[in-house]
Amino acid sequence: MKQHLLFPTVVHTHYIEPSSNTRLLKDIIDRTAKKPHILLESAPSTYGTTQTLLNNPLLAEFKRDLTAIVNDWARSLDICPLEITNSWANILGPGHRIDYHRHPRSVVSGAFYLSAPEGSIDLEFRNPLMPMKQMESFVWEQIGGGVSFLNESVHKIPCEENLLIIFPSWLEHGSTETNTTSERITLSFNTYYRDK
Ligand SMILES: [Fe+2]
Repeated sequence: MKQHLLFPTVVHTHYIEPSSNTRLLKDIIDRTAKKPHILLESAPSTYGTTQTLLNNPLLAEFKRDLTAIVNDWARSLDICPLEITNSWANILGPGHRIDYHRHPRSVVSGAFYLSAPEGSIDLEFRNPLMPMKQMESFVWEQIGGGVSFLNESVHKIPCEENLLIIFPSWLEHGSTETNTTSERITLSFNTYYRDK
């Protein structure tokens, strides 16, 4: 027997060494005006004030590094080179969560955890095949079937400080209510095909 894994969803994770660039990014986020974000249980975000954090000239080198990582993802799928379009920061405190959502008008998205205190809630990805499944999801759970990466309905990736998660922008994701006493700070960004 040969098993064929059809239509895989490719997510990359990278650990980014803390540096003067990541410290500068955190300072810039601290000093940037924020507004409550409806997807985040009204947690503060720069989404409604600025989505151009990475366009700050002081972050040019860091943006180049992130773009190179994004294009590792693109090459692994044999698709065209990408560039970062918009970028913003979300600050999740106790009791906040992120409703499931996708990032329209983007190819692949990134979430970089500048701060992820002990007990930070995971980033959850919803299995995009679930709406297509007819019998496997409900019946097998009711009769006590096992859960593996071949049939899971949700996949969770722990949010660790200095971890960058690269995922297709069409993939639904979110976080359940956070149970930490300190804040989880995320830089998020979107991409599009690079102009030739
Ligand atoms: Fe998102």
